Amino acid sequence: MKFLSTTLFLLGIMSQPILAEFSFTSTAEHNGVPVPQSEINIQPFESGTLGRIRSRTGDDSGPKIGTTTLRRVKRTNPTANSNNWCGSVRTTTSSNQIKLIHGTFQHPTCTQRPGVTQYPQAAAAWIGIDGDSWTSALLQAGTVCKINNSTGIVENEVWWQWVPSGSYTITNVPVFAGDWIDITINTTSSTAANIKIVNTNRGYTHTINASTGATLARVDADWVVERPYYGTTLAGFAQFTQVWFQNAYATLTSGTSLGITGAKQYQIPGGCASTEFDNSKLYAAVAP
Ligand SMILES: *[C@@H]1O[C@H](CO)[C@@H](O)[C@H](O)[C@H]1NC(C)=O
Ligand SMILES: *[C@@H]1O[C@H](CO)[C@@H](O)[C@H](O)[C@H]1NC(C)=O
Ligand SMILES: *[C@@H]1O[C@H](CO)[C@@H](O)[C@H](O)[C@H]1NC(C)=O
Ligand SMILES: *[C@@H]1O[C@H](CO)[C@@H](O)[C@H](O)[C@H]1NC(C)=O
Repeated sequence: MKFLSTTLFLLGIMSQPILAEFSFTSTAEHNGVPVPQSEINIQPFESGTLGRIRSRTGDDSGPKIGTTTLRRVKRTNPTANSNNWCGSVRTTTSSNQIKLIHGTFQHPTCTQRPGVTQYPQAAAAWIGIDGDSWTSALLQAGTVCKINNSTGIVENEVWWQWVPSGSYTITNVPVFAGDWIDITINTTSSTAANIKIVNTNRGYTHTINASTGATLARVDADWVVERPYYGTTLAGFAQFTQVWFQNAYATLTSGTSLGITGAKQYQIPGGCASTEFDNSKLYAAVAP
């Protein structure tokens, strides 16, 4: 994900065709009751787009919190460093593509990270398809917390994006720290998908049918906590409570599934450590 600077955001508004390139429809329910279309509110993300992985570097010695190396359940899992992605990426082949990805996670409690001077401070949790080995498109949905450094107020939002198109905030679906969010992205082709976002705690279900998105290779399955960009520089990475992704799986055209075992664990040095717990769970935790 990526916030654009104010200037770039204004440019973004002026170049609406970027957003108009693909189309989508939405339906929503609250406690099982359909929400009228007039109450469904999807806004271009306040300041830009969400993003692909950046600045990957080679393997490191393993996730750490402080000086404690965390248990890495599957020692065969490769780890790698990134500027902005902390989480698991499982890559398949173009002959056995990802059809669907699922994940459930708890939106974290965010606070200002001591010693961090870049603002805003933010952290996003999401699941998605592509954006790692396939960089020209990424379909993703999740939540973000943003901290206003002058007021200390934390804003929590639900969003989705089909990169390189801009992202959208789903303002009719509330999210609060501690809410469980359940997301399914079901592709019907390399350019069309249904996205279902459920806030389990608040009884909200939001479905998006998107089509004519940028072509996905459908080879990367991503479960990620991201440090967003603000313009061309990284936002401050907010302090967040551990994010557990559960029931994480991707189903493939062959009918088999991929889980976390064997996934690449991306780490953000000085920011976040990602650790596999088992084949359907991982956790991303603040690391100094
Ligand atoms: C989205 O697609 C599904 C199946 O592909 C369909 O059942 C549903 O009605 C569609 N929803 C909208 C809002 O178009
Ligand atoms: C932070 O909050 C103040 C006071 O409401 C507001 O003036 C300012 O624009 C906010 N900053 C950001 C980055 O949203
Ligand atoms: C908030 O961030 C802005 C932009 O980085 C900075 O100019 C300002 O001094 C900060 N305010 C506080 C109260 O930290
Ligand atoms: C995913 O989409 C396909 C094709 O539209 C549909 O047959 C299938 O039932 C969907 N799966 C889920 C879990 O929604």
